[in-house]
Amino acid sequence: MSAGMNDAPDTVTAAAMAEGDAMPLIRLRGVTKMYGSGQAALMALKGVDIDIQAGEFVAIMGPSGSGKSTAMNIIGCLDTPTGGEYMFHGMHVEKLSRDQRARLRRGYLGFVFQGFNLLARTSAQENVELPLLYRGESAASRKILAAQALASVGLAGWEDHTPAELSGGQQQRVAIARALVTEPAVLLADEPTGNLDTQRSREIMELLSRLNQDHGITVLMVTHEQDMAMYARRMLHFVDGMLDSDTLNPHPTGINAPPLAATAPTPPPDAATSSSSAGPV
Ligand SMILES: Nc1ncnc2c1ncn2[C@@H]1O[C@H](COP(=O)(O)OP(=O)(O)OP(=O)(O)O)[C@@H](O)[C@H]1O
Ligand SMILES: [Mg+2]
Repeated sequence: MSAGMNDAPDTVTAAAMAEGDAMPLIRLRGVTKMYGSGQAALMALKGVDIDIQAGEFVAIMGPSGSGKSTAMNIIGCLDTPTGGEYMFHGMHVEKLSRDQRARLRRGYLGFVFQGFNLLARTSAQENVELPLLYRGESAASRKILAAQALASVGLAGWEDHTPAELSGGQQQRVAIARALVTEPAVLLADEPTGNLDTQRSREIMELLSRLNQDHGITVLMVTHEQDMAMYARRMLHFVDGMLDSDTLNPHPTGINAPPLAATAPTPPPDAATSSSSAGPV
């Protein structure tokens, strides 16, 4: 685990981390989530057990309302379980304070959402710099790291463009660069291709595959599309707030696919010289 050890919660003692080395990176045990109360109470998760090892690429599928996003949000420390245990690298996340969870999130987790969630009227560069600003990086290092992250998703030369000046696929790449710029151990993607056409979806999936294979980033991705799930090596299927099946995919898509550059969009006119050296991840 490389990123942000200084940001780790106070409870991360050497002993806990040593114990964590023998544990899965992510472990859910009997996790429940109830929304509302009384008559209006709704059990979104009804006792979920999942182990995910560092370096896995996992697709999460299941019908609408089955609890996929709820589980992702709990794993991503955006939400807390009502009951059960969530261990991250041997740490009991459900016992952490809000601040400690925020630090865990900033240090180890990156998010990509269906709607890209970029700031409008803000350049790609500034969008990607944002997590570094929260982390207190200097302006100079923010500039370098964000430019590197954009180059790593095939967007060198597009730094000054705002979301409105980028295609959907490019906006999602900016969002992925923003998630990657802090070097997270885990990338959580909730329907990352939900707003994209098939070709753009494949490009995003190629990118996620490469981040997983070449950079060892653990990837958890929710998708409704079987074709996209086939890029993952493991598939979790949720039904009605429970894990219904957990299967391995012996032949993931994209392992021998051509480099992303072959399908990358053409660079903007003012960036023709800088783009050729910036390969995808
Ligand atoms: N903030 C919330 N308040 C109340 N109920 C919620 C909340 N978030 C989710 N739910 C409910 O919890 C259940 C699970 O929702 P969740 O968003 O996890 O489903 P999902 O599997 O991600 O569905 P989709 O495929 O439509 O995104 C649904 O019945 C939903 O209405
Ligand atoms: Mg959802």
